[in-house]
Amino acid sequence: MNKSESEISYTGKYTPLSRTELVKKLQEALTPSRFNHVLRVEQTAIQLAQKYGESVEKASIAGLVHDYAKQRPDADFIRAIKQYRLDDNLLNYGNAIWHGVVGWLFVAKELQIENIDILKAVEYHTVGHQYMSKLAQIVYMADYIEPGRDFPGGVSKAREATEISLAAGGVSCQTQQTLSYLIENKLPVYPQTIITYNAWVPVQTKE
Ligand SMILES: [Fe+2]
Ligand SMILES: [Fe+2]
Repeated sequence: MNKSESEISYTGKYTPLSRTELVKKLQEALTPSRFNHVLRVEQTAIQLAQKYGESVEKASIAGLVHDYAKQRPDADFIRAIKQYRLDDNLLNYGNAIWHGVVGWLFVAKELQIENIDILKAVEYHTVGHQYMSKLAQIVYMADYIEPGRDFPGGVSKAREATEISLAAGGVSCQTQQTLSYLIENKLPVYPQTIITYNAWVPVQTKE
């Protein structure tokens, strides 16, 4: 890990916490292996921010907090879905969907992060969205291609695609791979995943 990147100091614009304080909160909320994933996602997000012209500070914060809710009990999510009157259909899914789509609420409240761009990047990091800002695209890709990820064939293709371009390359590649994987394994597809697919994958042909 690059030392200067890992010790980036925050301006206070996006969170009143220092990076060290934020890292500590993540460490307390997550198992060691998930915590290490979060650190790798942060570093990958920083690299993508540098390459594609996004704020390194926002990339660091969003990368660190994206999986904050990953190890929360189901009851917390069910309570939040009801309390905030989120889509009832969410109750048919589980942590894999909830930790992003609902988890951003815990990030906002408990980590004192109010920046919409960062919160949306957390919300969209697993199922994507038809409109993803550059930061959301960066977190979506960093989570998928961080150096600890190792799924045969797919990850190297996604890394190469992200190297060439963020949206038409990486985001499109990951979205296609994810939907193919779910269908091939007869797993349920959260409806937003289909909407994301239609927005980012089909090659538009005009007559
Ligand atoms: Fe996640
Ligand atoms: Fe993650």
